[in-house]
Amino acid sequence: MADKTASLTLGEKSYDYGLLSGSVGPDVVDIRKLYAQTGAFTYDPGFTSTASCESAITYIDGDQGILLHRGYPIDQLAENSTFMEVAHLLIHGELPKKDELDTFTYTITRHTMLHEQLIQFYRGFRRDAHPMAIMCGVVGALSAFYHDSTDITDPKQRMIASHRLIAKMPTIAAMAYKYSIGQPFMLPQNNLSYTGNFLRMTFGVPAEPYEVNPIVEQAMRTIFILHADHEQNASTSTVRLAGSSGANPFACIAAGIACLWGPAHGGANEAALNMLREIGTPDRIPEYIARAKDKEDPFRLMGFGHRVYKNYDPRAKVMQKIAADVLDQLDIDDPVFDVARELERIALHDEYFIEKKLYPNVDFYSGVVLSAIGFPTSMFTALFALARTVGWVAQWNEMISDPDQKIGRPRQLYTGPTQRDYVPVDKR
Ligand code: CMC
Repeated sequence: MADKTASLTLGEKSYDYGLLSGSVGPDVVDIRKLYAQTGAFTYDPGFTSTASCESAITYIDGDQGILLHRGYPIDQLAENSTFMEVAHLLIHGELPKKDELDTFTYTITRHTMLHEQLIQFYRGFRRDAHPMAIMCGVVGALSAFYHDSTDITDPKQRMIASHRLIAKMPTIAAMAYKYSIGQPFMLPQNNLSYTGNFLRMTFGVPAEPYEVNPIVEQAMRTIFILHADHEQNASTSTVRLAGSSGANPFACIAAGIACLWGPAHGGANEAALNMLREIGTPDRIPEYIARAKDKEDPFRLMGFGHRVYKNYDPRAKVMQKIAADVLDQLDIDDPVFDVARELERIALHDEYFIEKKLYPNVDFYSGVVLSAIGFPTSMFTALFALARTVGWVAQWNEMISDPDQKIGRPRQLYTGPTQRDYVPVDKR
């Protein structure tokens, strides 16, 4: 039993439960024996008070607006790291030494191509398919191709599957884009950086050489780092839940992609830019602020608010700076950025947003940058999925290696009919 305990009284009886302490963050009441001892469940829809697992990867202090990967603040990683370094850090726990980084980068680079047969899958989609629909399908289909890396009890096979996923995701996302605009697929070119390769596969054409713009490459690298992991969010929890049954790793990541797609999660970047474009000019902002505050109107300010951050999302701070830098360096005058900044200013001074602690999140400014780089809005969430794959595989590996890991199986508060007898159709 832990030093500190929490007591629960149910009727006449009292029960003590240990409090587990992490290295930082709130204590956790260990209720694993609660049902066996009391016959009662806990009720926590949306898991707002539930720690679903033990993890040593990412820590968020939502009140202070702090995000740490393996202890390193996100702004330091965004400023100084490469995406490969962050991937190594998340998966292996430490920033790599030079030779470790070289080996890791080499390994990822050697897995960038797709099986030729897999490429045929694209032709089965409509040209106007959403890239996230294609990503769900193609990533799920990887499970039918790489049979030598699906024994999840073997750490080596798990690592090969992880490398394949990280390496192939840029190729898969870029091909989804090429397919939608009717251009030929571009094969990976492994002398480029992870980000440079992705940009070339997305924006290059076979008829011409492609020069990676260093400003864009740098911005993409930072965007990927900002999206790499975020603790037990909805899509990561989905990957863990799918993986908890021992499912195929590629299928688990496809499940994560499906969850990420929603506008309350990864789809918010697309929704945020669409909203900013719809607002159009700063004079229309008050109308939208009023709608966001109106209980009768389902409209929300997209890119605002967060389940965990009750302060400025530290990723949004970095993203705002990238937006300003990219627009400046590429000499783009986008009125949407002015609308975004003014909307943020007004919302942060509005009693409704102050009281509910609603601040810009990572998605508020990312659309402005991605649009300046040349991505259509439909690709935004696909880029998020690409980067988040690193976090998903790190969390999936951590879960499978955890000796306490069990299949995820929540219970419910049942409010349906109690037992009744079948009534034949002519008597109903
Ligand atoms: N605009 C207006 N009101 C809001 C907003 C918003 N964006 N977000 C929350 N609220 C209000 C909400 O109406 C509620 O008010 P009340 O207490 O009067 O009912 C209160 O704030 C709490 O909201 P909630 O929905 O209970 O909070 P949640 O923790 O369940 O939801 C959220 C978090 C991110 C889903 C929500 O803030 C939201 O829908 N934001 C817009 C979508 C968005 O930007 N999502 C990206 C999240 S960050 C990237 C990622 O993780 O994928």
